[in-house]
Amino acid sequence: MEKIVILTGAGISAESGLGTFRDEGGLWAQHRIEDVATPEGFARDPALVHGFYNARRAQAAKAQPNAAHKALARLQRHWPREVVIVTQNVDSLHEAGGAENVIHMHGTLSGALCGACAHRWTAPPEMSVDEPCPACAAPTARPDVVWFGEMPYHMDAIYDHLSGAAIFAAIGTSGQVYPAAAFVHDASMSGARTVELNLDPSTGVSSFDEVILGPATETVPRWVDGLLGRY
Ligand code: APR
Repeated sequence: MEKIVILTGAGISAESGLGTFRDEGGLWAQHRIEDVATPEGFARDPALVHGFYNARRAQAAKAQPNAAHKALARLQRHWPREVVIVTQNVDSLHEAGGAENVIHMHGTLSGALCGACAHRWTAPPEMSVDEPCPACAAPTARPDVVWFGEMPYHMDAIYDHLSGAAIFAAIGTSGQVYPAAAFVHDASMSGARTVELNLDPSTGVSSFDEVILGPATETVPRWVDGLLGRY
């Protein structure tokens, strides 16, 4: 039976009301990456960065999982082999939709990290520059998300899953940020059949065996029904 590995991006949460990054009016049209999503930006103005993530944390707290998140959880429950969900998203809508063991390669808004001792804890709704680390008390708390120039999390596990994938799906990602943008190549090299489900074709669309365009809340449930109908 075939193992399925799924990569998701901001597009899967778009219909839950969370903005994407590079679509019209997206987050990177409103904020400069270098100011709010780099270690240098945080060092320069931690209050600005905390404000950016506090706003995203508040928005994510109000968002509900949509039919696409729920369909992937259904696939995990009914597919006879492993279904691994790797997400670039820092919201927790996959888990809210019932998915399990989600791999957050860019961390999560619900996490806080100490820049001094690397202690991790659950972030309060509002983080600020003088948030003391619960372990070392240093005022160096930051959101536990991966910024540009930092190594994504869980890469060894992700590459291990990709090497064993029979089906690889990329859902709602523009394919512009590495290493995630290369996962389709890694999966293809391991013999996986690859499919992209997106509103618009991604940068790497030509690398996929199959492309299904449309809103995720329509395409993902239909794709899951097709897979489950096969077994
Ligand atoms: N249904 C399906 N796909 C959608 C929908 C939708 N309703 N709305 C938008 N999309 C697609 C767009 O067509 C686009 O391909 O989602 C993708 C969003 O692309 P980006 O905004 O670039 O988001 P993403 O690919 O997740 O960005 C990757 O870049 O800035 C970093 O860390 C950030 O994790 C993020 C990474």
